[in-house]
Amino acid sequence: MTDPRPRAPRPGHPGPRPAPDPRPAPDPSPPLSVWVTAQRDARTQRRGRYLPAATAHPAKMLPAIAATAITRYSEPGDLVADPMCGIGTTLVEAVHLGRDAVGVEYEPRWATIAAANITHARGQGATGQAEIIRGDARQLPALVPAGMAGRVALVVTSPPYGRSVHGQVRAEQRAGGGGVEKYDNRYSDDPANLASHGLDDLLAGFTRILAGCAALLRPGGTVVVTARPWRQRGELVDLPGAVLAAGATAGLIPAERCVALLAGLRGRQLVPRPSFFQLDNVRKARARGEPWHLIVHEDVLIFRAPGFPLGSRELKRRRNGPPGDVVMTADVAPARLPAPAILPAPARRHAA
Ligand SMILES: C[S@@+](CC[C@H](N)C(=O)[O-])C[C@H]1O[C@@H](n2cnc3c(N)ncnc32)[C@H](O)[C@@H]1O
Repeated sequence: MTDPRPRAPRPGHPGPRPAPDPRPAPDPSPPLSVWVTAQRDARTQRRGRYLPAATAHPAKMLPAIAATAITRYSEPGDLVADPMCGIGTTLVEAVHLGRDAVGVEYEPRWATIAAANITHARGQGATGQAEIIRGDARQLPALVPAGMAGRVALVVTSPPYGRSVHGQVRAEQRAGGGGVEKYDNRYSDDPANLASHGLDDLLAGFTRILAGCAALLRPGGTVVVTARPWRQRGELVDLPGAVLAAGATAGLIPAERCVALLAGLRGRQLVPRPSFFQLDNVRKARARGEPWHLIVHEDVLIFRAPGFPLGSRELKRRRNGPPGDVVMTADVAPARLPAPAILPAPARRHAA
C-alpha cells in the first residue's frame, strides 16, 4: 500500500516542481512614450473597418492611436468611454479588442455614423458591446445609465480644435485656372458644439466634460486625451498644455505625457503624411521667413482618477443636469452594460 502523505524531498533531490505562475512573464522591452501609430496612413487604417460615410468627419482620431491607448490602459471585458466620440473610432477599436464601450456625441450626423460603424464592427466579429448616446457631454453623468458611475476603466477622447488642420480638398475647375476647394472641414455652428467656441469656452466646456469623466471612472481609472498644438493667426496655441491644466482642474491626476506619431517610421526616417493645408501653411510661412515645422505628432496626455471612490453626495451633485434626448444602441442591447437609466420615448430611439 502506498502512503498518501507528502514526503519530504530526499537530500540532494529537487523535490516537487512548483505550480506554473499564471501571470504573464514581464515584457523585457517596456512600452515607450513615443507611439508608432502611423505606419499605415489613415485611409489604409480605416479601409474596410469603417463605413465610407465616416470619411466626412473633419477630425477623426487615427485608429492606431485609439487601439494603442486601449491595449495599454485596459483589459478585455473592461468598459471604455469617449464623451466626444465623433464617428466612433474609440468605440470601434474597443469592441474589436474585446472591451465594451460607451460614447457620447452631440451631432446627430456623427452619432448615427458611429452607431453604424459599431454594427459594422460587430458584423466583422468584434466581441465587445457598445452604446452611443446623442447629447451634450458637458452633462455627462446625467446622460449615461446610472449604473455606469464608477465602472469605466478608461476614457479615450480628443477635443475639437483648429480648423486649419481639418478637412478634405478637391481641385476646382474655374475659367482662367483652377484652385482648391476645402470641404468637410468644420462642425455645425450649433453653440453646444464646443468646436464653435473660442479657446476659453472650449476649455471651460472640456474641463466640465473631464469632471464628468472623473465621476464615471472606477478608482484609479485612466483618461487618455490626444491634442495637437495648432497655429492661430501665426501664433502657436498650446492646446496640450491647456488640456493638462483642464484635467487637473477636473480632479484628475496627471500621469504621463506621450507622443503619438502621425508620420510613418522607416528605419531612422520619419515619413510625414501632412494634409494639403498643413503643407501649404508651412510652405507659405517659410516663404515669409518664419521657421515653421510640419507637426508630425499628437500629444497624448494621460491622467489617473484618484484611487478612492467618490462619495455619493458628490456623485449626486455631478448628476444634476438635463438628460440626453436620444439613445442609440448599435445593434443588439449590450449584455454586460446596465440598461440605460434614461430611456427615450420609443419613437425617438434609433437602432443602427
Ligand atoms: C475631435 S472630434 C472627435 C473625433 C473622434 N475621436 C473620432 O475619431 O471620430 C470632437 C467631437 O466632439 C463633438 N462635440 C463637440 N461638442 C460636443 C459636446 N458638447 N458634447 C458632445 N460632443 C461634442 C464634435 O461634434 C466632434 O465630433
